[in-house]
Amino acid sequence: MRLAKFLAHAGVASRRGAEEIIRAGRVSIAGTTVIDPARDVDVDSGVAVDGRFLEGPEERMVFLLNKPSGVLSTAADAYGRRTVVDLVPARGARLYPVGRLDADSTGLILVTNDGDLAQRLTHPSFEVPRTYRAVVHPVPVGERALRSLREGVELEDGRTAPAKARQLKPGVLELTIHEGRNHQVKRMCEAVGHRVRTLQRIRFGPLRLDDLAEGAHRQLRAAEVETLRRSPSG
Ligand code: URA
Repeated sequence: MRLAKFLAHAGVASRRGAEEIIRAGRVSIAGTTVIDPARDVDVDSGVAVDGRFLEGPEERMVFLLNKPSGVLSTAADAYGRRTVVDLVPARGARLYPVGRLDADSTGLILVTNDGDLAQRLTHPSFEVPRTYRAVVHPVPVGERALRSLREGVELEDGRTAPAKARQLKPGVLELTIHEGRNHQVKRMCEAVGHRVRTLQRIRFGPLRLDDLAEGAHRQLRAAEVETLRRSPSG
């Protein structure tokens, strides 16, 4: 198996992340540093990262978490701030988030050690639909602004794809987008004249937040992971 794939299967990082780790000279095979991600290896090759031996594939796990505000969606923070990974018991696995939510956003985020799945779900070509509930100001949102969101709005990094947008009650929007640009929902709302006060993700592909309490998580069942693998859906 390719070295990068081996590292991804061992839960070190996504396949792309593993390639970077290899190129950075952090990986050795039988004591010799290797910088070629395509090197052929198996469990007996003696693969180590930062001097620590890897024992081979780790059980794949995917958790659905209701991220509270103020928690970062990174695997680790240099300043020791709380991350989504801190909220899930890793049982020795190296977990990382699938995509990002802003620190002040809440709601559904996946945390996994399955590098291939994480890479697929965040790759723009998969266009997994994500649904958000946004409380905006000023209130209410007019028909013209809603129409603009549905047609796609011009942002500094280009026009967005059309979103599904509806107003649940004055100033509360439900928006479904298929792209994962930085601060996208906030910027789209801003572009049509409304500032986002709170933002919660309630759906990701086939998965729903439902009534999971803030800060709580649950492990996805095998059938849910399979449906997710076949995303997009919705
Ligand atoms: N769009 C945003 O603006 N923020 C998020 O956290 C997610 C989507």
